[in-house]
Amino acid sequence: MPYAHITGWGMSVPEPVLTNDDLAKIVDTNDQWIRERTGIRERRIARDTDFPSTLGTAAALKALEVANLKPTDVDLIICATSTPEHIFPATACLIQDQLGATKAGAFDLLAACSGFIYGLNMAAQSIRSGAIKNAIVIGTETLSRFVDWEDRNTCILFGDGAGAFVLQASDQPGGVLAAVMHSDGSGGNLLTLPAGGSRHPATEATIREGQHYIYMDGKEVFRFATKVMASSTEEVLKLAGLTKEDISVIIPHQANLRIIDAAARGLKLPIEKFIINVDRYGNTSTASIPIAAVEGIEKGRVKKGDKVVFVGFGAGLTWGALVAEWTGPLPSPRKVNMGRYRLWGRVRSLLHRFERFLEGIIWGRKA
Ligand code: ACO
Repeated sequence: MPYAHITGWGMSVPEPVLTNDDLAKIVDTNDQWIRERTGIRERRIARDTDFPSTLGTAAALKALEVANLKPTDVDLIICATSTPEHIFPATACLIQDQLGATKAGAFDLLAACSGFIYGLNMAAQSIRSGAIKNAIVIGTETLSRFVDWEDRNTCILFGDGAGAFVLQASDQPGGVLAAVMHSDGSGGNLLTLPAGGSRHPATEATIREGQHYIYMDGKEVFRFATKVMASSTEEVLKLAGLTKEDISVIIPHQANLRIIDAAARGLKLPIEKFIINVDRYGNTSTASIPIAAVEGIEKGRVKKGDKVVFVGFGAGLTWGALVAEWTGPLPSPRKVNMGRYRLWGRVRSLLHRFERFLEGIIWGRKA
C-alpha cells in the first residue's frame, strides 16, 4: 500500500490589511479588546479582483512549484471552502481550469474550518487506496464578503486568504499517519450563514433581515472549541500509536489565541509547540491551517522527519485532527517550469471556450 506524503505547500493572501484600529472606525470596538479576547491584531481583506478561485490557484501553483509537480500530473483537486464562489460550479473546478490540471477530478468540500483536515484525509485515503498518485488540497476563503461589518461580535474575527498542500504517493514510509473526523449537527445553529441556500433562497426579506451574513453564538462555539481541540489531538495520537512527546509541532486552526491556549493547557503542552499566526490573519477558516503551516515551514519550525499534528474545529459542528510525518519534495529528474504551465493553462481554457462557441454555431444552439 503506498504512503501519502505532503510534498508541496503554498499560500496566498490579499494585500489589503485591516487593523484593529481600522475596525474601531467602523464599529464600537477597540484594539485592546480585540487583542485581549482574540489575539488578533490585523487581517487581510480581498480586493474586488480576489476570489476563492484566484487565491486558491495562486496557493496551489506555489505548492506545485515546491513539489516540482506538473499541473497535468494532478489526479485530484479538493477545495475546502466555507465561501465558495457559487453553489455550483465547484470552486475546485474553477481552480482546475486556472491551473490547467487537465486530468484532475475536482470537487468542493464543506466542513467549515475543519475542511482542510477533512480534505487532507480524503486525499491521503485516495492515495493510500492506490486509486490516485497526486492530489492538491486547498483551503481558500473570502469571508469578508459574508461578514456583517456592523456586527462587532463577528466582523473582528475573520480574514481572507488561501493555502494549499500537494500530496503524493510513495513507497517510502511516512506522510499522513492517521486522522480523525467528527461532527455534531445538533450544533448547526451556533455558527451559520442562514440564507442563500435552498432552505432560504435569497429574497427581499432575507436581505433586509441580514440573513446572508455569518451568524455566530461566540460563547457556545468557544466552549465547544476548547473541548474538542485537546480531545481530538489525543485521539489521533492514540490512533497513530504516538505520544505527545513524539510531536514536534502542532498546527491548530487559527480562530482565537485563547482557544489555542486552552488546547495547550488541556494537552499539558507548552504553547511554544503550537504554530500561531492568528495575530496577523484572523480566522481564515479552511485556509488558516495551511497558511500557518507554510509560515511555520518558512521559519524552519517544520522539518523533514518531524511529526506534525493538524487540529481544527468549525461550523457544522465539525472537528478533526490529522498527524503526519513531514516529507517535503520527492526526488524528481528535472525542474518543472510552472510559469509555462500557467500560461498554457490559460490558453487551453480559452481554446476550450472557443471550441464550444464554434460547436454552437455549427450544430445550432438548440438542443
Ligand atoms: N469590541 C468590544 N466589545 C465587544 C466586542 C467587540 N468587538 N464584541 C463583544 N463585545 C462586548 C460584548 O457586548 C460584551 O459586553 P457586555 O458584557 O456589556 O454584554 C462583552 O464584550 C463580552 O462579550 P463576550 O461575547 O462575552 O466576549 P467573549 O470573551 O466571549 O469573546 C469571542 C467573544 C471573541 C467571539 C469569543 O466568544 C470567541 O472567540 N468565540 C469563538 C469564535 C470562533 O472561534 N468562531 C469561529 C469558528 S470556526 C468557523 O467555522 C468559521
